Amino acid sequence: MTSRLFHVAPGGRLTGRLHVPGDKSVSHRAIMFAALAEGTSRISGFLESADCLATLSAFEAMGVAHRIEDGARVIEGRGLHGLVAPDRALDLGNSGTSMRLLSGLMAGQAFDSTLTGDASLSRRPMQRVIDPLSRMGASIAAEEGGRAPLRISGGRRLSAIEYASPVASAQIKSCVLLAGLYAHGITRVHEPGISRDHTERMLRGFGVTVERQGPSVSVAGGQRLTASDVAVPADLSSAAFFLVGAAISPGSDLLLESVGINPTRRGVIDVLQAMGADLTLIDEREAAGEPVADIHVRGGALHGTHIDGDLVALAIDECPALFIAAACANGTTRVTGAEELRVKECDRLAVMAAGLKRLGVDCAETHDGIVIHGCGQRDDQRSAFTGGEIASHEDHRIAMAFAMAGLRAAEPIVIDDCDYVATSFPNFVELAGRAGLSIDVEEKSV
Ligand code: S3P
Repeated sequence: MTSRLFHVAPGGRLTGRLHVPGDKSVSHRAIMFAALAEGTSRISGFLESADCLATLSAFEAMGVAHRIEDGARVIEGRGLHGLVAPDRALDLGNSGTSMRLLSGLMAGQAFDSTLTGDASLSRRPMQRVIDPLSRMGASIAAEEGGRAPLRISGGRRLSAIEYASPVASAQIKSCVLLAGLYAHGITRVHEPGISRDHTERMLRGFGVTVERQGPSVSVAGGQRLTASDVAVPADLSSAAFFLVGAAISPGSDLLLESVGINPTRRGVIDVLQAMGADLTLIDEREAAGEPVADIHVRGGALHGTHIDGDLVALAIDECPALFIAAACANGTTRVTGAEELRVKECDRLAVMAAGLKRLGVDCAETHDGIVIHGCGQRDDQRSAFTGGEIASHEDHRIAMAFAMAGLRAAEPIVIDDCDYVATSFPNFVELAGRAGLSIDVEEKSV
């Protein structure tokens, strides 16, 4: 077996125009809803990454035919009740979105199914979806502590529930709403804060009535999905690494094209602007129910800020990159209400704090966040980081965040376990190189 290491050369700046790959959250949902729809749907800009391909092969195993036509994924929908029993466990790799959303869908099927994942996914909490699904009448057996594999019994009659979710999580909300499509009555989810609303937007695009009242969203069971074409915007979560990379490196001047700027996701833009980044949105427009824009960012001085729980929720996947920006800023950045970061692909608070310290940054992890004392950005002192070796803990976003630190490092940064970058951003190294960040990839035998 081999494992990939990134060797990131120190210094540089990011320039030019980039189009990062399609949005991961939107790509997963596009496959799922197209598979459940009546008719043929065409998904352009689909993210061809390991996570989204895991969702696609799960539906393939349930009888969904698909093909590539002119670079788009074309899906032959089987209707709400048309999936067939898979002849194997559905292996969802590293993808939490696939497992949590699929558990809602599988709970409503006539057949039994088993959802499995890799070592990281098998450590992640699934009780948060098992609880509401059980209340709806689903039968799900899990490993100790509510971990995968999940064995979901089919043929259960689901009833609608009103569910007050203890966390603002689009994965929990979407899971319950998707089970709600198979339930008798109106299923309603209340959330303690805002979570991304791609499910609601896209279900409407497939002809389903989804209602929102303040912090609650509801769906009536039995509604049919009608095939629809989806144009997937570029992923703001992938763009975030380049936004931060350009913002922290003087002389950078970068344009990121057609990036999704959904208001429930755009925290990274607001935080960087609050830190004084020279970042502007150009030509704001709508594509397939999602707002998009080109984003222009230039390098310059940043200052510290407070990222509270509400902002964390709007930038949940972008926090690792934002912590790199904080380390380059003048003054202190405090992050609070960020406990959810501990249950992502790894404990992102602990792993980011350890990595930042390794690179000489003065920071301290707290129970619900982190405090980062930035080095400031003076023209005569470009480095904010020493060089060193970083453990990415098999987490794609940790690896890409620390790769961007290379732009302000004094010595090379070496990052382990970078195979996982392919879960969300398969051509990251190529795009980074094109923009001006040089990364050598070493294949190491393990
Ligand atoms: C996602 C929701 C978020 C996010 C994940 C993708 C989604 O998770 O971290 O990468 O597509 O619904 P939570 O909803 O659990 O916060």
